[in-house]
Amino acid sequence: MTARVSSGQAAVMPRPAWIDKWLGACKDLADLERSNPMTDAVVDEIDGRMIRIGDQWLADFASCNYLGFDLEREIIDAIPAYLDRWGTHPSWSRLLGSPVLYPQLEERLTQLLGADDTLVLPTITLIHTSVIPVLAGSGTVYVDRRAHKTIYEGCELAAAHGATVKRFAFEDADDLERLLKEGGPSPRLICLDGVNSMTGNAVDVPAFAELARAYGALLYVDDAHGFGVIGERGDEETSPYGSRGNGVVRYAGESYDHVIFVAGLSKAYSSLGAFIACPSELKRLLKTAAPPYLYSGPSPIASLATALVGLEVNERRGDEVRADLWRKTSRVLDSLDALGVHTPNRSGFPIVEVPLARHEDIDAVGRFLFDNGIYVTLAAYPLVPRKEVGFRIQITAANTDAEIAQLVDVLHRLTNGFDLQPARDERRAA
Ligand SMILES: Cc1ncc(COP(=O)(O)O)c(C=O)c1O
Repeated sequence: MTARVSSGQAAVMPRPAWIDKWLGACKDLADLERSNPMTDAVVDEIDGRMIRIGDQWLADFASCNYLGFDLEREIIDAIPAYLDRWGTHPSWSRLLGSPVLYPQLEERLTQLLGADDTLVLPTITLIHTSVIPVLAGSGTVYVDRRAHKTIYEGCELAAAHGATVKRFAFEDADDLERLLKEGGPSPRLICLDGVNSMTGNAVDVPAFAELARAYGALLYVDDAHGFGVIGERGDEETSPYGSRGNGVVRYAGESYDHVIFVAGLSKAYSSLGAFIACPSELKRLLKTAAPPYLYSGPSPIASLATALVGLEVNERRGDEVRADLWRKTSRVLDSLDALGVHTPNRSGFPIVEVPLARHEDIDAVGRFLFDNGIYVTLAAYPLVPRKEVGFRIQITAANTDAEIAQLVDVLHRLTNGFDLQPARDERRAA
């Protein structure tokens, strides 16, 4: 950190103590960022779900494009016509004006979700940081202790605006009820993840929705990873992921009574966009109360087009894609079972975390996977607690069977050189 002095030379300022504290908390991650090729990488080229980093080609198991829509020819080919008509970017804030693509997208999402209404903004982070403070007012926010970092950002802003924030134990409805019984100022808002971004499991929506209704609270669910992948159950379903990919609330057979559903288009729909499904009255309020609607730039036209065409493809053959995704994910989970290796994934959904027996091994494990052509997300401390340090595999429909076979083979060889945590006696749902 430097400061200018009058001679034009840079003078070194003493490093404030709070920076050392901050850097200390992130040290493991910072060390990894400096030393490991699987963090902060520059990808030079892609070929399907293969990526090239420098001279090394790797099978990508870190992508969140679960349905493979980023590579879907029908979607890619549809975009130029939208650009011809609309240009690259509507540079109005939404309150000023929205291309008609926005209401079209909102209508399609509302219909797919079976919700009352939908409001589209560029990212989930923007939604959390703007909507959570509005819904919390000077009341009480109950947040899952392990909710996504971006939910926490929203809660911190809510606290700055006068709300009280209370944490409950991870996905623990009993602990939440204990806090709700203690009382606290209204309005009351309960914030948690739908499909958890690390364990790959879905939260028990009915249990939390019931508490919200019983205690006059709103349940606010972030389903970044479930939307597009899981959906309503029924006889017609092609896999245990359910049908239509309309998210964790429909997957659980729940209604939107006292439930606010938030999800993104940047994972399953490969597009820079996000939405909140809520009553029309709240949508109207958010148009002036949520800063991104007033002040932020909107999603690019290519993203709006990708999402609109993606929703059409989803209606026609999304369930086929999801059945394929389920089959490929099952192959990976079965191979871990056969190796006797623990993963917290009990759902069968395509997020598979593999914790290490010794967190100190993470750098060497990352290198082994990289050198053997497998790209994953390294989960270092403080992203996860030390006992969960490891790596996260994400399977997408665009991963080929050959890439899955390569992953299974490399996982097998990994267990010869490194200790992973032993399997526990837990049943898988799908
Ligand atoms: C659970 C969850 N919520 C929110 C986000 C952030 O989404 P966005 O990029 O739309 O802000 C992520 C991103 O990975 C996520 O996993």
